[in-house]
Amino acid sequence: MAAVLRCMECGTEYPLDEMRYRCDCGGLLDVAHDLPSLGISRELFDGRTGARGPEPWRRSGVWRFRELVLPVDGDLIVSRPEGDTPLYRNPVISRWVGLEGFALKHEGENPTGSFKDRGMTVGVTWARALGVRAVACASTGNTAASMAAYAALAGLTAVVFVPAGKVALGKLAQALAYGALTLEVEGDFDAAMALVQESCRELGIYLLNSLNPFRIEGQKTIVYEIVQDLGWDPPDWIVFPAGNLGNTAAFGKALWELRELGLIPRMPRLAAVQAAGANPLYRSFVRGFSPLEPVRAETVATAIRIGNPVSFPRAVRALRWTGGVVVEVTDQEIMDAKAVVDAAGIGCEPASAAAVAGARKLVSGGVIGRDERVVAVLTGNLLKDPEATIAYHTGDLPGIVPRFANYPRRVVPSLEAVAEVLEEVGRWS
Ligand SMILES: Cc1ncc(COP(=O)(O)O)c(C=O)c1O
Ligand SMILES: [Zn+2]
Repeated sequence: MAAVLRCMECGTEYPLDEMRYRCDCGGLLDVAHDLPSLGISRELFDGRTGARGPEPWRRSGVWRFRELVLPVDGDLIVSRPEGDTPLYRNPVISRWVGLEGFALKHEGENPTGSFKDRGMTVGVTWARALGVRAVACASTGNTAASMAAYAALAGLTAVVFVPAGKVALGKLAQALAYGALTLEVEGDFDAAMALVQESCRELGIYLLNSLNPFRIEGQKTIVYEIVQDLGWDPPDWIVFPAGNLGNTAAFGKALWELRELGLIPRMPRLAAVQAAGANPLYRSFVRGFSPLEPVRAETVATAIRIGNPVSFPRAVRALRWTGGVVVEVTDQEIMDAKAVVDAAGIGCEPASAAAVAGARKLVSGGVIGRDERVVAVLTGNLLKDPEATIAYHTGDLPGIVPRFANYPRRVVPSLEAVAEVLEEVGRWS
C-alpha cells in the first residue's frame, strides 16, 4: 500500500495527491505510511549521516529519513539543506535547570533560523509535486520567513498573513527580503489563521500552515534526529514550546512510528510548554483534556502568542500516546531562561526559552526526576527577536525584571573611561 491521507477522527482515506487539509467530517488528516513495507532500519539512517553529493537534499536531516517523510522523486526536492542541527550540553544551563542529563536540540540553527524549515522543505516540495503556483500561510513570523525562502527557491509566489505589529523584527525582515507578499492583518494570529484558510479556499492558493499534514511529516524529523543522536536510546523527556501545536502533533506521530517500527524500545514523554498568557492547551490538560476553549493570547514570546491552536486534537493524541504533560510559564520565567541560554553562548528567541523555563519548573515541581535524561528543543534563533533581547537588557520590557541584565555602557573615547567601567563591573582580570 502506498502512503495515503487518513482522517484522525473517522479513518476515511484520501489519495496522497488530493489537495485537501481536512476530512469531509472536519477531522485533521495524517500522512499514513505503510510502515512494514518501507524496509527501514537504524543502519539505513545511520549510513546516511554526513552524506554528501551534488544535490543539497542529500545533506538534509529531513530527507535522511525520507521513507518516513514523503515518497517523492529527488528532482522535486527543495532543500537548503535543513536539519542536522546540534545537540548542546552546557553545565551552566544544566545547573540552572537542575538536571545533569540535560541537552538542547538547537533548531534555531536551521537555514532560516527556526525549526519551520523542516516542515517547509516538505510542504514546498509537495506544492511543486502538485503543480501549484502560489502558497500561503498565517504566521507569528517564523513560518512566514521559512515559507518565503523556500517558495523563492522553488519559484512559487508566497503570500504571508501576519498579525500587524506583533511579529519580531528579524522575521518580518526575512519575509520581505525573500520576496513574499506580506499582509499585515489588523488582528491577532488567530484572526490571520482564519483569514488565510478562507483565502486559500476561495482563491485557490495552497495552504502551508502546519494544518497541512506534509508540514507535520517534516517536523517529525526533529525527534528522529534526537533519537539518532543519542544512539537510538531515547531520552526520558522531550520538552518544547507549544503554540499552534504542530510540533506537539509531529513529535507524537514521530515517536508512535518509531515504536511501531521497533526502532526504539520505549517512548519518551512529551512536555509541552505554553506561555501563561497563551495557554489553551494547558487549561485543557489540567482538566483531563477538556475540549479546547480558545483564549485571547498575550505574551512576550510572540511566536507562541496563539489562543486557538489548529492542531489541538492531534496534540491531545500525542500527549496521550506518550504519557505527556503540559506546563505553563510566565513571561518573567521565559525571559530569565532566555538570558541564561543566551549568556551561555548558545542563544535563542523568547518562545524557545519557554522550553528551558518549563523544564526547570517540571524539575522543581518533581514531575521530571533529577536523574532523568531530558532534551529541550530550542525552536528559534537569538537573532529573530533583537527587540525583545535589547529591551530586556536595557530594562525596557514592561513587567519584566531584568535579573540577568547586561546593558551597554556608553563611554567617552578615553582610556580612563574604559578603566573606570572595568573597575566598576569588576570582572575583567
Ligand atoms: C520559535 C517558535 N517556537 C515555537 C513555536 C510553536 O510551534 P507550534 O506552532 O508547532 O506549537 C513557533 C511557531 O510559530 C515558533 O516560531
Ligand atoms: Zn473524518
